[in-house]
Amino acid sequence: MSTARLIALDQILFVLVAAAWAATAGVALAGLRQPAAAGRRTRLIAAALWAAAIVVTALRIPVTLGLARAGWWFVAEKVTLALPLVVLPALASAAVSLPRLLRAPSGSGAPVLSPRLVAFPLLVTAYGAVAGVACGVVISYPVTGGGAAAVLALFAAASVVSWRLLGPVRTPGDRWQAAGTGVLALAVALTVGGGWSGGHPHFGDHARAQGISVDLLRGPAASAAGGPSGAKPRVRRFTLTAQPATVRLASGPIDAWSFNGQVPGPVLRVRQGDLVEVTLRNRLPGQAVTVHWHGYDVPSGEDGVPGVTQNAVAPGQTHVYRFRAEDPGTYWYHSHQNSSIAVPRGLFGLLVVDPAAPLPESEDHVLALHTFGTRPTLSVDGAAPTDGLARLALPPGARTRLRVVNTDTRPVVLGLGGAPYRIAAVDGGDVPGATDLDGARLHLAAGGRYDLTFTVPSGPVLLTAGDRPALLVNGPSAPPAAAGPIVDITRYGAATAPPARFDQEVTWVLDKTLAMADGLPRLAQTVNGKAWPNIPTPVVRQGQTVRIRVVNRGTDTHPMHPHGHHVRILSRNGVPATGLSMDTFDVAPGEVWEVALVADNPGMWMSHCHDLAHAAQGMEFHLAYEGVTTPYEMGGGNHPA
Ligand code: C2O
Ligand code: CU
Repeated sequence: MSTARLIALDQILFVLVAAAWAATAGVALAGLRQPAAAGRRTRLIAAALWAAAIVVTALRIPVTLGLARAGWWFVAEKVTLALPLVVLPALASAAVSLPRLLRAPSGSGAPVLSPRLVAFPLLVTAYGAVAGVACGVVISYPVTGGGAAAVLALFAAASVVSWRLLGPVRTPGDRWQAAGTGVLALAVALTVGGGWSGGHPHFGDHARAQGISVDLLRGPAASAAGGPSGAKPRVRRFTLTAQPATVRLASGPIDAWSFNGQVPGPVLRVRQGDLVEVTLRNRLPGQAVTVHWHGYDVPSGEDGVPGVTQNAVAPGQTHVYRFRAEDPGTYWYHSHQNSSIAVPRGLFGLLVVDPAAPLPESEDHVLALHTFGTRPTLSVDGAAPTDGLARLALPPGARTRLRVVNTDTRPVVLGLGGAPYRIAAVDGGDVPGATDLDGARLHLAAGGRYDLTFTVPSGPVLLTAGDRPALLVNGPSAPPAAAGPIVDITRYGAATAPPARFDQEVTWVLDKTLAMADGLPRLAQTVNGKAWPNIPTPVVRQGQTVRIRVVNRGTDTHPMHPHGHHVRILSRNGVPATGLSMDTFDVAPGEVWEVALVADNPGMWMSHCHDLAHAAQGMEFHLAYEGVTTPYEMGGGNHPA
């Protein structure tokens, strides 16, 4: 069974186990209050429930073992806390409660069965089972003392209170004592539990250290001397004006936010070696903006992250970005202010850097996939998007490159039917040894790009996105959609040698748990049990090679996106990868990815999940270089997610 299935099964079992033990304890207690014959019947029902509870509890053991095979990250809190809390009292109940549930009444009159002996072990098992559910909500990896203490305090308090209330003599004072114990335990849990998420942003602490400001890590001015050849670069100037716009789809109009009145914004197409200068003007009422160059590893000061590399550009203001276009490939740009709202609403466009030497393809087109609300669309070469079938006429025999950009927050399954094709580039980087694919489908992460190349056949070609026919090349009628297996992108292309050594190891365990966010505990998308801004910032030194292990123990897919760097994929679920470079890689539930990051672009960088709603729910953090500081601050007008 896949790890993702085991995670789901484990969650279901957690709840079943808690329900089974609660029912057993409840029915046993009811049986004690009934007169002899009826009481015996009820106790026998309780005994049957006990057997069922034992069975579901036992099922948790193979599931936990299965998860453990995928890594300790998936089971740490289960093995150390959740399982002992239910298994140990369950064993005690077998010795103490079960014989008494099964015992025949020894005559009429006074109660012969002590509630403490019959019901207490069952109640404690039920509390342990509920504590196990609580572990899943409040504790992720690693298991912290605070989280564990909070769960244990509530478990212990419930047990103590039950012991007292099941005692032979009950006075009204007992109830008050019990209530007092409960309140005390809750207070302890909240106090120690509060410590589980730490106080202040580690990033802020780091930023106050001495060093060079990210403000100085900017692109060259237009007057700067040339590149490696010494010649002055060609300067390409663009203006992007953020403004409202209406997108007209066949299914109706959409109120959008746009660059230059169009969604997607203009395709910025430059040549390798150009100096790109983009003036951002904000004419959006009431909404600040920035421009982030997704996948293009610009100097840090040009990265467009509000609160890290600049202040968000308020309505009426402007900001100028400059960078040398040195890395050919397919990229995109989008606002990074309130990005979980701004990008879906349309504040994005495409960026293509053509190589200095021309590509072999005579036909070269950019395709932006974007979903407005629930309406998936495709834009070809920056034209208005369509939620119907887009068309392209290409001369048969022409070598063709389709640059497919997923601007959504969810992955998309692509298919190209009608011609064999190759994935020539992934996230802007060429794929060495790309092989022909025939009818295969592709999984493209949120924010990711694939350049697909093929020779135009005499018949039509169909690109599908999800279940939807998106682009028809040379109709009139569409060929069958690609329906083959999904290519494992981590195994595609020719293998290249991995780095020989690593200077640092970093682990990001992704989960959805209760964590402090904005000063309140909430259900958050977490990294190592913490949510923004409490996720510790990995600090690297220029030149270091860092191995990053990303573990997804949640039930959502997380397209992880480190800014300013491409990472090289080393392995997925322990299977060595060919070594492609990506800037956005999709870590599915239960998966473990290992990637290598070479610290070759000093700065203050954002890293986050590109399911932008997840970033807004806490899954964003920083990667910092030793000695780089920022004068900007989060909060106020700056809201990257
Ligand atoms: Cu495409 Cu930080 O984002
Ligand atoms: Cu995510």
